[in-house]
Amino acid sequence: MSNRTFTIIKPDSVRKGNFGKIIDRLESEGFRVLGLKKVSLSQKQAESFYGVHRERPFFGDLVRYMTSGPVYVAALQRDGAVAHLRKVMGATDPAKADAGTIRKDFGESIEQNAIHGSDSDENAKIEIGFFFAESELV
Ligand code: RTP
Ligand code: MG
Repeated sequence: MSNRTFTIIKPDSVRKGNFGKIIDRLESEGFRVLGLKKVSLSQKQAESFYGVHRERPFFGDLVRYMTSGPVYVAALQRDGAVAHLRKVMGATDPAKADAGTIRKDFGESIEQNAIHGSDSDENAKIEIGFFFAESELV
């Protein structure tokens, strides 16, 4: 099992000034930040990043949302990183997320849900590689 995962602090979080609060949450949960960048995703980047959802009815809205403002992308390290991040993020729909999770506390809707987290070690590796060279991870 890999000890790395990948996150995006999504546009709604950045817009509302919740970036620091969310990073604080992640550090409190034992994640170390290996790499961090503020970026504005292009339409192509957003479509490719969420390519697995291309056929879903919400795909167009998802791409519009993810390109609606800057985001922070980060590579994180911790034991059991992928599973633990999914746990502290909470369910996709903030209304269904457990109390104390990031999406419960900072998400607005099933779409504008504050944060992304990789769903497998394999995807974590692909997603980190999307934004970072290995030499940028320290
Ligand atoms: P993520 O990939 O961003 O970590 O979220 P997730 O695994 O919890 O959920 P996923 O099914 O992969 O969906 C990706 C993102 O698409 C948006 N979404 N909108 N309108 C809708 O019904 C709907 N469903 C999903 C959310 O931004 C979700 O995080
Ligand atoms: Mg997902």
